[in-house]
Amino acid sequence: MGSIAEYPPSESRLFKPLKVGHSTLPHRVVFAPLTRLRNDDNHAPLPLMEKYYADRASTPGTLVISEATSISHGEEGNSNNPGLVSEEQVEGWRKIISAVHTNKSIFFQQIWGMGRASNPDVLATRGFPYRSSSAVPMKGSENVPREMTEAEILETIENFAETAKRAVLAGADGVEIHSAHGYLLDQFLTASVNQRTDKWGGSIENRSRLTLAVVKAVVEAIGAEKVAIRFSPYAGFQGSEKSDYVELYTYLISELKKMNVQFAYLSLVEATGDPGTLIWDQKQIHGGKTLDFILEAWDNLSPVIVAGGYRPDSAAWAVEERYKKWDVMVAFGRHFISNPDLVFKVQNGIPLAPYNRPTFYCRKEWAGYNDYPFSQEFLDKYSQTVHPMTEEESKALGSL
Ligand code: PHB
Repeated sequence: MGSIAEYPPSESRLFKPLKVGHSTLPHRVVFAPLTRLRNDDNHAPLPLMEKYYADRASTPGTLVISEATSISHGEEGNSNNPGLVSEEQVEGWRKIISAVHTNKSIFFQQIWGMGRASNPDVLATRGFPYRSSSAVPMKGSENVPREMTEAEILETIENFAETAKRAVLAGADGVEIHSAHGYLLDQFLTASVNQRTDKWGGSIENRSRLTLAVVKAVVEAIGAEKVAIRFSPYAGFQGSEKSDYVELYTYLISELKKMNVQFAYLSLVEATGDPGTLIWDQKQIHGGKTLDFILEAWDNLSPVIVAGGYRPDSAAWAVEERYKKWDVMVAFGRHFISNPDLVFKVQNGIPLAPYNRPTFYCRKEWAGYNDYPFSQEFLDKYSQTVHPMTEEESKALGSL
Protein backbone atom coordinates (compact mmCIF):
# COMPACT_ATOMS: atom_id res chain seq x y z
CA MET A 1 0.00 0.00 0.00
CA GLY A 2 1.39 3.43 -0.95
CA SER A 3 2.21 5.97 1.68
CA ILE A 4 -0.05 8.92 2.38
CA ALA A 5 2.37 11.47 0.88
CA GLU A 6 2.24 9.75 -2.53
CA TYR A 7 -1.15 11.23 -3.33
CA PRO A 8 -1.22 15.00 -3.84
CA PRO A 9 -4.83 15.87 -2.94
CA SER A 10 -5.40 18.11 -5.97
CA GLU A 11 -4.46 15.31 -8.38
CA SER A 12 -6.32 12.61 -6.49
CA ARG A 13 -9.81 11.22 -6.95
CA LEU A 14 -10.90 13.82 -4.37
CA PHE A 15 -11.28 16.11 -7.39
CA LYS A 16 -12.92 13.63 -9.74
CA PRO A 17 -16.69 14.10 -10.31
CA LEU A 18 -19.21 11.88 -8.60
CA LYS A 19 -22.97 11.60 -8.93
CA VAL A 20 -24.82 12.10 -5.65
CA GLY A 21 -28.59 11.90 -5.87
CA HIS A 22 -29.68 14.24 -8.64
CA SER A 23 -26.39 16.17 -8.72
CA THR A 24 -22.97 15.50 -10.17
CA LEU A 25 -20.40 16.93 -7.80
CA PRO A 26 -17.00 18.03 -9.12
CA HIS A 27 -15.19 16.94 -5.97
CA ARG A 28 -15.53 14.65 -2.95
CA VAL A 29 -14.68 16.88 -0.01
CA VAL A 30 -17.82 17.02 2.13
CA PHE A 31 -18.80 19.48 4.85
CA ALA A 32 -19.72 17.15 7.72
CA PRO A 33 -22.78 17.66 9.92
CA LEU A 34 -21.74 19.54 13.07
CA THR A 35 -23.63 20.66 16.15
CA ARG A 36 -22.73 24.34 16.69
CA LEU A 37 -25.53 25.70 18.93
CA ARG A 38 -26.02 28.97 17.01
CA ASN A 39 -29.82 28.74 16.77
CA ASP A 40 -32.11 31.04 18.74
CA ASP A 41 -33.98 30.05 21.88
CA ASN A 42 -36.88 28.73 19.79
CA HIS A 43 -34.49 26.39 17.93
CA ALA A 44 -34.75 28.49 14.75
CA PRO A 45 -31.65 29.53 12.77
CA LEU A 46 -30.08 32.88 13.66
CA PRO A 47 -29.04 35.05 10.69
CA LEU A 48 -25.36 34.40 11.45
CA MET A 49 -25.86 30.82 10.29
CA GLU A 50 -26.41 31.98 6.68
CA LYS A 51 -22.88 33.27 6.40
CA TYR A 52 -21.42 30.19 8.10
CA TYR A 53 -23.05 27.74 5.70
CA ALA A 54 -22.60 29.93 2.61
CA ASP A 55 -18.89 30.37 3.34
CA ARG A 56 -18.39 26.63 3.58
CA ALA A 57 -20.24 26.25 0.28
CA SER A 58 -17.85 28.72 -1.41
CA THR A 59 -16.25 26.14 -3.68
CA PRO A 60 -18.97 25.21 -6.18
CA GLY A 61 -20.21 21.66 -5.99
CA THR A 62 -19.58 21.14 -2.29
CA LEU A 63 -21.94 18.79 -0.50
CA VAL A 64 -22.97 20.71 2.62
CA ILE A 65 -24.70 18.69 5.34
CA SER A 66 -26.56 20.55 8.05
CA GLU A 67 -26.12 20.12 11.75
CA ALA A 68 -28.52 17.54 13.17
CA THR A 69 -32.01 19.04 13.07
CA SER A 70 -34.96 17.85 15.13
CA ILE A 71 -38.03 16.21 13.62
CA SER A 72 -40.42 17.54 16.29
CA HIS A 73 -40.42 20.08 19.10
CA GLY A 74 -40.37 17.17 21.54
CA GLU A 75 -36.98 16.12 20.13
CA GLU A 76 -35.44 19.60 20.52
CA GLY A 77 -33.50 18.28 23.46
CA ASN A 78 -30.65 20.74 23.75
CA SER A 79 -30.88 24.51 23.86
CA ASN A 80 -29.90 26.26 20.61
CA ASN A 81 -29.95 23.08 18.54
CA PRO A 82 -32.18 23.45 15.47
CA GLY A 83 -35.58 22.11 14.55
CA LEU A 84 -37.41 22.04 11.23
CA VAL A 85 -41.01 22.18 12.32
CA SER A 86 -42.29 25.72 12.97
CA GLU A 87 -42.69 28.31 10.24
CA GLU A 88 -39.84 30.42 11.59
CA GLN A 89 -37.55 27.37 11.65
CA VAL A 90 -38.43 26.49 8.06
CA GLU A 91 -37.97 30.11 6.94
CA GLY A 92 -34.57 30.27 8.62
CA TRP A 93 -33.41 27.11 6.87
CA ARG A 94 -34.84 28.32 3.55
CA LYS A 95 -32.50 31.32 3.69
CA ILE A 96 -29.49 29.17 4.57
CA ILE A 97 -30.24 26.72 1.77
CA SER A 98 -30.71 29.54 -0.67
CA ALA A 99 -27.29 30.98 0.31
CA VAL A 100 -25.68 27.56 -0.26
CA HIS A 101 -27.37 27.29 -3.65
CA THR A 102 -26.25 30.79 -4.61
CA ASN A 103 -22.73 29.44 -4.23
CA LYS A 104 -23.62 26.51 -6.50
CA SER A 105 -23.25 23.89 -3.81
CA ILE A 106 -25.77 21.33 -2.62
CA PHE A 107 -27.46 20.96 0.74
CA PHE A 108 -28.65 17.94 2.70
CA GLN A 109 -30.51 18.45 5.96
CA GLN A 110 -29.49 15.97 8.63
CA ILE A 111 -32.62 15.02 10.60
CA TRP A 112 -32.86 13.30 13.96
CA GLY A 113 -34.52 12.61 17.23
CA MET A 114 -32.37 12.90 20.35
CA GLY A 115 -34.23 10.57 22.71
CA ARG A 116 -32.38 10.00 25.96
CA ALA A 117 -29.42 12.10 24.72
CA SER A 118 -31.65 15.13 25.31
CA ASN A 119 -31.24 17.33 28.33
CA PRO A 120 -34.35 16.41 30.40
CA ASP A 121 -34.52 19.93 31.86
CA VAL A 122 -34.68 21.50 28.40
CA LEU A 123 -37.58 19.19 27.54
CA ALA A 124 -39.36 19.72 30.86
CA THR A 125 -39.28 23.52 30.51
CA ARG A 126 -41.48 23.15 27.46
CA GLY A 127 -43.57 20.30 28.82
CA PHE A 128 -42.09 17.44 26.79
CA PRO A 129 -41.38 13.98 28.19
CA TYR A 130 -37.88 12.51 28.40
CA ARG A 131 -38.06 9.29 26.38
CA SER A 132 -36.07 6.52 24.74
CA SER A 133 -36.50 3.01 23.35
CA SER A 134 -36.44 1.74 26.96
CA ALA A 135 -36.21 3.08 30.47
CA VAL A 136 -32.41 2.84 30.47
CA PRO A 137 -30.55 5.94 31.68
CA MET A 138 -27.41 7.42 30.17
CA LYS A 139 -24.30 6.29 32.01
CA GLY A 140 -23.80 8.33 35.16
CA SER A 141 -27.20 10.01 34.93
CA GLU A 142 -29.98 9.82 37.47
CA ASN A 143 -32.58 10.72 34.88
CA VAL A 144 -34.40 7.66 33.67
CA PRO A 145 -36.16 8.07 30.32
CA ARG A 146 -39.63 6.70 29.85
CA GLU A 147 -40.06 3.86 27.35
CA MET A 148 -41.80 5.16 24.24
CA THR A 149 -45.26 3.81 23.50
CA GLU A 150 -46.00 2.21 20.18
CA ALA A 151 -48.13 5.24 19.24
CA GLU A 152 -45.13 7.48 19.90
CA ILE A 153 -42.93 5.26 17.73
CA LEU A 154 -45.40 5.49 14.86
CA GLU A 155 -45.59 9.24 15.34
CA THR A 156 -41.79 9.41 15.18
CA ILE A 157 -41.81 7.69 11.79
CA GLU A 158 -44.37 10.19 10.55
CA ASN A 159 -42.37 13.10 11.98
CA PHE A 160 -39.28 12.02 10.06
CA ALA A 161 -41.29 11.84 6.82
CA GLU A 162 -43.01 15.20 7.41
CA THR A 163 -39.72 16.87 8.30
CA ALA A 164 -38.14 15.49 5.14
CA LYS A 165 -40.99 17.03 3.14
CA ARG A 166 -40.49 20.38 4.86
CA ALA A 167 -36.75 20.22 4.14
CA VAL A 168 -37.40 19.68 0.44
CA LEU A 169 -40.00 22.45 0.40
CA ALA A 170 -37.40 24.73 2.01
CA GLY A 171 -35.11 23.92 -0.91
CA ALA A 172 -32.92 21.10 0.41
CA ASP A 173 -31.48 18.70 -2.14
CA GLY A 174 -32.13 15.87 0.27
CA VAL A 175 -32.07 14.69 3.86
CA GLU A 176 -29.66 12.53 5.82
CA ILE A 177 -31.35 10.31 8.38
CA HIS A 178 -29.28 10.24 11.56
CA SER A 179 -29.15 6.70 12.95
CA ALA A 180 -25.87 6.94 14.83
CA HIS A 181 -23.93 8.04 17.91
CA GLY A 182 -26.42 7.09 20.58
CA TYR A 183 -29.26 9.36 19.44
CA LEU A 184 -32.88 8.24 19.10
CA LEU A 185 -32.74 5.77 16.18
CA ASP A 186 -29.46 4.35 17.46
CA GLN A 187 -31.09 3.89 20.87
CA PHE A 188 -33.31 1.34 19.16
CA LEU A 189 -30.39 -0.34 17.32
CA THR A 190 -28.23 -0.80 20.43
CA ALA A 191 -29.04 -3.94 22.45
CA SER A 192 -27.80 -2.54 25.77
CA VAL A 193 -30.16 0.44 25.44
CA ASN A 194 -33.15 -1.16 23.74
CA GLN A 195 -34.58 -3.70 26.15
CA ARG A 196 -38.06 -3.77 24.70
CA THR A 197 -39.92 -7.05 24.48
CA ASP A 198 -42.31 -6.01 21.69
CA LYS A 199 -41.62 -5.98 17.95
CA TRP A 200 -39.39 -2.88 18.33
CA GLY A 201 -36.79 -4.61 20.52
CA GLY A 202 -34.93 -7.85 21.13
CA SER A 203 -33.69 -9.45 17.91
CA ILE A 204 -31.60 -7.60 15.36
CA GLU A 205 -34.62 -7.58 13.10
CA ASN A 206 -36.74 -5.93 15.79
CA ARG A 207 -34.10 -3.39 16.85
CA SER A 208 -33.62 -2.40 13.20
CA ARG A 209 -37.35 -2.01 12.60
CA LEU A 210 -37.60 1.69 13.47
CA THR A 211 -34.60 2.84 11.44
CA LEU A 212 -35.82 0.85 8.43
CA ALA A 213 -39.40 2.09 8.82
CA VAL A 214 -38.11 5.66 8.96
CA VAL A 215 -36.02 5.17 5.83
CA LYS A 216 -38.99 3.66 4.02
CA ALA A 217 -41.35 6.46 5.06
CA VAL A 218 -38.85 9.16 4.08
CA VAL A 219 -38.20 7.48 0.72
CA GLU A 220 -41.96 7.43 0.11
CA ALA A 221 -42.21 11.07 1.14
CA ILE A 222 -39.44 12.60 -0.99
CA GLY A 223 -37.92 9.89 -3.23
CA ALA A 224 -34.83 7.73 -2.59
CA GLU A 225 -32.45 9.92 -4.61
CA LYS A 226 -32.96 12.60 -1.97
CA VAL A 227 -32.39 10.24 0.95
CA ALA A 228 -29.16 9.41 2.76
CA ILE A 229 -28.53 7.56 6.00
CA ARG A 230 -25.79 7.77 8.60
CA PHE A 231 -24.45 4.95 10.78
CA SER A 232 -21.60 4.83 13.30
CA PRO A 233 -20.96 1.08 13.72
CA TYR A 234 -18.06 1.42 16.14
CA ALA A 235 -19.01 4.45 18.19
CA GLY A 236 -19.12 4.19 21.95
CA PHE A 237 -20.38 7.75 22.33
CA GLN A 238 -23.40 8.03 24.65
CA GLY A 239 -23.57 4.32 25.34
CA SER A 240 -23.81 3.29 21.70
CA GLU A 241 -21.34 0.35 21.80
CA LYS A 242 -22.63 -2.71 19.99
CA SER A 243 -21.16 -6.17 20.41
CA ASP A 244 -23.15 -7.52 17.45
CA TYR A 245 -22.18 -4.79 14.97
CA VAL A 246 -21.25 -7.16 12.14
CA GLU A 247 -24.59 -8.96 12.21
CA LEU A 248 -26.55 -5.76 12.86
CA TYR A 249 -25.12 -3.63 10.05
CA THR A 250 -24.99 -6.55 7.63
CA TYR A 251 -28.72 -6.96 8.25
CA LEU A 252 -29.44 -3.23 7.91
CA ILE A 253 -27.54 -2.97 4.63
CA SER A 254 -29.20 -6.04 3.21
CA GLU A 255 -32.65 -4.64 4.11
CA LEU A 256 -31.80 -1.24 2.60
CA LYS A 257 -30.69 -3.00 -0.57
CA LYS A 258 -33.93 -5.00 -0.65
CA MET A 259 -35.84 -1.72 -0.96
CA ASN A 260 -34.43 -1.76 -4.47
CA VAL A 261 -34.01 2.00 -4.73
CA GLN A 262 -31.12 4.35 -5.44
CA PHE A 263 -30.25 6.27 -2.26
CA ALA A 264 -28.30 9.53 -2.49
CA TYR A 265 -25.48 8.24 -0.30
CA LEU A 266 -24.57 6.23 2.76
CA SER A 267 -22.57 8.01 5.47
CA LEU A 268 -20.32 5.95 7.76
CA VAL A 269 -18.22 6.94 10.73
CA GLU A 270 -14.95 5.06 11.09
CA ALA A 271 -13.74 3.64 14.39
CA THR A 272 -11.42 6.68 14.54
CA GLY A 273 -14.32 9.11 14.21
CA ASP A 274 -16.14 8.63 17.51
CA PRO A 275 -17.16 12.10 18.73
CA GLY A 276 -15.97 11.04 22.16
CA THR A 277 -12.45 10.49 20.80
CA LEU A 278 -10.15 13.46 20.63
CA ILE A 279 -7.07 11.65 19.40
CA TRP A 280 -7.06 9.67 16.22
CA ASP A 281 -4.53 7.89 14.13
CA GLN A 282 -5.32 6.90 10.58
CA LYS A 283 -2.85 4.06 10.72
CA GLN A 284 -4.37 2.45 13.76
CA ILE A 285 -6.20 -0.69 12.87
CA HIS A 286 -8.55 -0.41 15.86
CA GLY A 287 -8.64 -4.14 16.39
CA GLY A 288 -9.62 -4.78 12.79
CA LYS A 289 -12.64 -2.51 13.10
CA THR A 290 -12.90 -1.33 9.50
CA LEU A 291 -15.90 -0.36 7.41
CA ASP A 292 -14.99 -2.92 4.76
CA PHE A 293 -17.75 -5.40 5.53
CA ILE A 294 -20.34 -2.66 5.09
CA LEU A 295 -18.76 -1.32 1.90
CA GLU A 296 -18.58 -4.87 0.49
CA ALA A 297 -22.26 -5.42 1.27
CA TRP A 298 -23.28 -2.00 -0.05
CA ASP A 299 -21.30 -2.74 -3.24
CA ASN A 300 -21.31 0.82 -4.65
CA LEU A 301 -25.11 1.00 -4.65
CA SER A 302 -24.51 4.74 -4.19
CA PRO A 303 -21.56 6.81 -2.92
CA VAL A 304 -20.35 6.40 0.64
CA ILE A 305 -19.12 9.24 2.85
CA VAL A 306 -16.41 8.25 5.31
CA ALA A 307 -15.60 10.34 8.37
CA GLY A 308 -12.78 9.81 10.83
CA GLY A 309 -10.51 12.75 11.52
CA TYR A 310 -9.20 13.15 7.98
CA ARG A 311 -6.64 15.65 6.77
CA PRO A 312 -6.10 16.57 3.11
CA ASP A 313 -3.26 14.07 2.63
CA SER A 314 -4.99 11.18 4.39
CA ALA A 315 -8.24 11.96 2.54
CA ALA A 316 -6.43 11.68 -0.79
CA TRP A 317 -4.87 8.43 0.38
CA ALA A 318 -8.34 7.19 1.44
CA VAL A 319 -9.95 7.71 -1.98
CA GLU A 320 -6.89 6.54 -3.94
CA GLU A 321 -5.79 3.60 -1.87
CA ARG A 322 -7.72 2.61 1.21
CA TYR A 323 -11.15 2.72 -0.46
CA LYS A 324 -10.15 2.54 -4.10
CA LYS A 325 -12.74 -0.14 -4.90
CA TRP A 326 -15.56 2.13 -3.81
CA ASP A 327 -17.12 5.50 -4.66
CA VAL A 328 -16.07 7.25 -1.51
CA MET A 329 -16.32 10.91 -0.42
CA VAL A 330 -14.52 12.24 2.64
CA ALA A 331 -16.18 14.35 5.32
CA PHE A 332 -14.29 17.09 7.16
CA GLY A 333 -15.68 18.55 10.36
CA ARG A 334 -13.21 20.29 12.64
CA HIS A 335 -10.96 21.52 9.82
CA PHE A 336 -13.99 22.91 7.99
CA ILE A 337 -14.88 24.90 11.10
CA SER A 338 -11.60 26.84 10.98
CA ASN A 339 -11.25 26.89 7.18
CA PRO A 340 -14.37 28.22 5.44
CA ASP A 341 -12.51 27.80 2.12
CA LEU A 342 -11.33 24.30 3.02
CA VAL A 343 -12.04 22.79 -0.40
CA PHE A 344 -10.09 25.57 -2.14
CA LYS A 345 -7.21 25.05 0.29
CA VAL A 346 -7.16 21.29 -0.29
CA GLN A 347 -7.20 21.80 -4.05
CA ASN A 348 -4.43 24.38 -3.96
CA GLY A 349 -2.19 22.89 -1.29
CA ILE A 350 -2.70 25.82 1.10
CA PRO A 351 -1.96 24.96 4.76
CA LEU A 352 -5.00 24.69 7.03
CA ALA A 353 -5.69 27.14 9.85
CA PRO A 354 -5.94 25.52 13.30
CA TYR A 355 -9.32 25.22 15.00
CA ASN A 356 -10.10 26.42 18.49
CA ARG A 357 -12.04 23.67 20.25
CA PRO A 358 -13.28 25.78 23.22
CA THR A 359 -15.42 27.90 20.87
CA PHE A 360 -17.08 24.99 19.01
CA TYR A 361 -20.20 25.11 21.14
CA CYS A 362 -20.43 28.75 22.28
CA ARG A 363 -24.15 29.29 22.11
CA LYS A 364 -25.32 31.99 19.64
CA GLU A 365 -21.78 33.40 19.38
CA TRP A 366 -20.25 34.92 16.27
CA ALA A 367 -16.81 34.25 17.75
CA GLY A 368 -15.40 30.85 16.85
CA TYR A 369 -18.06 30.58 14.15
CA ASN A 370 -17.88 33.34 11.56
CA ASP A 371 -14.49 34.84 12.38
CA TYR A 372 -12.20 32.29 10.75
CA PRO A 373 -10.83 34.07 7.64
CA PHE A 374 -10.66 32.92 4.05
CA SER A 375 -7.14 32.47 2.67
CA GLN A 376 -5.54 35.43 0.92
CA GLU A 377 -5.28 33.23 -2.17
CA PHE A 378 -9.05 32.76 -2.21
CA LEU A 379 -9.68 36.48 -1.69
CA ASP A 380 -7.21 37.40 -4.44
CA LYS A 381 -8.91 35.04 -6.84
CA TYR A 382 -12.52 35.86 -6.07
CA SER A 383 -12.12 39.41 -4.69
CA GLN A 384 -14.53 38.81 -1.81
CA THR A 385 -16.14 36.00 0.09
CA VAL A 386 -19.42 35.12 -1.47
CA HIS A 387 -21.57 35.95 1.54
CA PRO A 388 -19.86 38.92 3.20
CA MET A 389 -22.28 39.56 6.07
CA THR A 390 -20.65 41.33 9.03
CA GLU A 391 -21.46 40.68 12.65
CA GLU A 392 -23.28 44.02 12.82
CA GLU A 393 -25.41 43.20 9.79
CA SER A 394 -26.20 39.82 11.23
CA LYS A 395 -27.23 41.40 14.54
CA ALA A 396 -29.44 43.90 12.75
CA LEU A 397 -31.33 41.01 11.17
CA GLY A 398 -32.08 39.31 14.45
CA SER A 399 -30.89 39.59 18.00
CA LEU A 400 -28.06 37.31 19.00
C1 PHB B 1 -23.18 16.30 19.17
O1 PHB B 1 -24.03 17.19 19.23
O2 PHB B 1 -22.24 16.24 19.98
C2 PHB B 1 -23.28 15.28 18.13
C3 PHB B 1 -24.33 15.33 17.24
C4 PHB B 1 -24.45 14.37 16.26
C5 PHB B 1 -23.51 13.37 16.18
C6 PHB B 1 -22.46 13.31 17.06
C7 PHB B 1 -22.34 14.28 18.05
O3 PHB B 1 -23.64 12.42 15.25
